[in-house]
Amino acid sequence: MKFKTLDWVDGALHMLDQRLLPNKVENVVLHTFEEVAESIKNLTVRGAPAIGVAAAYGMALAANRMELTEEEFSDEMERAGAVLRNARPTAVNLAWAVNRMLDVMEENGAIPLPEMRKFAIREAIKIHHEDASMCSKIGTNGAALLSDGMTILTHCNAGALATAGMGTALAVIYAAASQGKKLKVYADETRPVLQGARLTMWELMQEGIDATLITDNTAASVFAAGKIDAVIVGADRIAANGDVANKIGTYNVAVLAAHHGVPFYVAAPRSTFDMSLSDGSKIPIEERSGDEVVQIGGSRLAPANAKTFTPAFDVTPIQLITAIVSDEGVMPGGRA
Ligand code: MRU
Repeated sequence: MKFKTLDWVDGALHMLDQRLLPNKVENVVLHTFEEVAESIKNLTVRGAPAIGVAAAYGMALAANRMELTEEEFSDEMERAGAVLRNARPTAVNLAWAVNRMLDVMEENGAIPLPEMRKFAIREAIKIHHEDASMCSKIGTNGAALLSDGMTILTHCNAGALATAGMGTALAVIYAAASQGKKLKVYADETRPVLQGARLTMWELMQEGIDATLITDNTAASVFAAGKIDAVIVGADRIAANGDVANKIGTYNVAVLAAHHGVPFYVAAPRSTFDMSLSDGSKIPIEERSGDEVVQIGGSRLAPANAKTFTPAFDVTPIQLITAIVSDEGVMPGGRA
């Protein structure tokens, strides 16, 4: 990739500021877990795997707060974990990464504090590298589903910007392209905050993939014209029965794909699966500020005080999914 979404440099977390893309390519440099939690909330970093990795670094920053004494350590880690976990509720990767940091620190509780601080950093870096490696495996596992000449539709951004590696849904496209397959991609703009227009288009164009931007409401006519051979999207949480929470509008695309007989693939790492929830109806769906709907780039689109409903995610039932591609392989869905 030609950019780094997250980077650990000299004891600080460097984060590509995704709020500014595609107009500016700038990093923010974070030194506290509170700053990391705020950056997750305000979408400086977004995408399920990326917010998990950011939260792991947030825990490492909490462990390295120098005024912290040995007696205060575990209470403070619990507090930092709760603040980070609460930053966004839907993507399970966030809680997964925080809980893993807490568990390994507790299991190694006998380590003296100076060593524990280094240990926390090493564990966060390990989570970062594991995420990158899971992305590559997803790419390899999914590439076999795509043939030369196909046109793929994607929704939101499930690329390198949403992970610590080459992405999930977009990793499949990058891996197939690297095998010499010529692919075309349609990117839904993805209202309200335009991850498709601002991020997926930027990322695909950086990587030399033939990408076309469409408004969300153009998707149906593109399917009807027979232009789409497959859909690939990411996931924020996958319940035990295979139902998938992903960016609002994913369900619309899944219904369209089923109606037009086009395969609908979901790509996600193990850290996105939540076996504690029996089905998608149990997945907590984040509601964001109505400002994201009534404004674009600070310009008002709707009357002042317009009522809004702004869920950030929806749930696609497993019956509408052809297959789920993970780092462990390809699992058939209800449309297989
Ligand atoms: O609100 P966002 O931008 O964090 O939503 C992101 C998505 O819905 C992605 O598709 C999902 O997190 C998978 S990213 C590999």
